[in-house]
Amino acid sequence: MDLFTKKTEKAGGRETSGLPRHIAIILDGNGRWAKKRGLPRTAGHMAGSETFRRIATYCKNIGVDYLTVYAFSTENWKRPEDEVGAIMKLLDKYLREAVATMARDRIRMRVFGDISCLSPELQRLVAETEEISSHYEGFQANICINYGGRDEIINAARRYAEDYAAGRAGALTEESFGAYLYSAGIPDPDLLIRPGGEQRISNFLLWQCAYSEFYFTDVLWPDFTGAELDKAIAEYRRRDRRFGAVKNP
Ligand code: IPE
Ligand code: IPE
Ligand code: MG
Repeated sequence: MDLFTKKTEKAGGRETSGLPRHIAIILDGNGRWAKKRGLPRTAGHMAGSETFRRIATYCKNIGVDYLTVYAFSTENWKRPEDEVGAIMKLLDKYLREAVATMARDRIRMRVFGDISCLSPELQRLVAETEEISSHYEGFQANICINYGGRDEIINAARRYAEDYAAGRAGALTEESFGAYLYSAGIPDPDLLIRPGGEQRISNFLLWQCAYSEFYFTDVLWPDFTGAELDKAIAEYRRRDRRFGAVKNP
């Protein structure tokens, strides 16, 4: 019995009927949104960044604790140079504005991903937003930039191996390994949303989504609204999360 209780707790057990504590979103469909309007893809990314601002505030207001968004993947470098450049510029603009407003809006921010190959200015902005965030508590938005689930796991394995060899780490367990991931200290996502019509994970949170509920919608990210989020949450509430156990043995 003890063993059973421990296992279900370990599985991350958030209530099945409540509000998801952590929502993850793959911000997809910006390019198609722009194309439909005869605009350059970068206009879609611009519209998408405004949607992120709105949805982050919405999540905070309804009482979600964490929102993690996939903004730029380790594979997105394959895109044309001008598109990558435009996305980096938007991230720069977003972080600059965040630095100015996050204390007022009480939105904590973290960046997940290998930021070492971003521009020195972007790296400085990331460090600054994280520093400001460390001074208060409450809703937290995590932005994944140059993020890949496989890259995160390899990175964590490498750092664990180094610590182990130096006598700084103990036995390898799911918990101890989790501390080496970008998401250290943050509960796994309860709900993963992918707008834009594709039904795949595209290298997002491979470790953390082990028991997340998935919700797909054809709505393109720039068109995503609080009402769409409500729909996803309503669907989440209808799900039966079992974490491998049986309900009434
Ligand atoms: C998501 O929108 C943003 C990034 C991946 C940076 P897309 O740019 O992938 O939009 P679609 O999928 O081409 O419509
Ligand atoms: C996933 O979207 C990555 C981000 C939203 C940052 P993509 O548009 O890159 O994914 P694929 O290529 O359709 O799988
Ligand atoms: Mg896409």
